[in-house]
Amino acid sequence: MTYKVIIPAAGLGKRMGAGKNKLLLELNEVPILIHTLRVFEKDDLCDGIILSISPQEEELFKELLKTYQINKVEHFVHGGKERQHSVFNGLKVLAGFDGIVLVHDGARPFIDTMLIHELVAVTSESGAAVLAVPVKDTIKKVANDEVVETVERASLWAIQTPQAFRVSLLMEANIKAEEDRFVGTDDASLVERLNYPIKIVKGNYDNIKLTTPEDLYFAEAIIRKLEKI
Ligand code: CTP
Ligand code: MG
Repeated sequence: MTYKVIIPAAGLGKRMGAGKNKLLLELNEVPILIHTLRVFEKDDLCDGIILSISPQEEELFKELLKTYQINKVEHFVHGGKERQHSVFNGLKVLAGFDGIVLVHDGARPFIDTMLIHELVAVTSESGAAVLAVPVKDTIKKVANDEVVETVERASLWAIQTPQAFRVSLLMEANIKAEEDRFVGTDDASLVERLNYPIKIVKGNYDNIKLTTPEDLYFAEAIIRKLEKI
């Protein structure tokens, strides 16, 4: 089954502290965003990319796509204040499309194609699924610099992207979130508010989101590992 993918790329990269959109930083002399886009460009099941970008970066990003021969971007939309708004703007161009849409962070370049396919297969049955990995650290709730309680680790999973949905379901979830002025940190949290069950597909620990400067060192190590495979 084929799918479309929305890639939010309109962030400011504040935590990376590079003074520009972190997706323009290079790994192996190639911008992070291009690494991410290449995965979908090469995946035969992906039949269209919707890229959500800042208006002031539109020309720059279009040039990059030409340079690196990324041809599957069928729509550019403008990002919003929060990631959720950037995704919703992308989703609006898919209104009426009766299929599966993935949402994948531009800042996660190491997503594995086999896992994308597993996610799409599960979503075609269930309507909603996310990639996730078991949490490795012990997690405690803290208030005022004091431990409140330890959360049982066995039930904790770190949620990644891609997250995959039937288009109509994600649309309904975004409309409701907007009506309720709810802003979530991922797309599934909006669908959860409809009480719709969301399946977990176990991913891998390489699929990091490049967020803070030290993530770039991890990224270099992951690239070296993937090059050896
Ligand atoms: N994003 C977006 N629109 C926003 C905020 C984020 O499209 N208003 C995108 C980012 O470009 C990134 C993804 O959503 O690909 C995940 O967000 P995050 O890692 O938080 O990136 P930034 O928002 O750019 O970073 P920061 O929060 O540190 O400013
Ligand atoms: Mg952010």
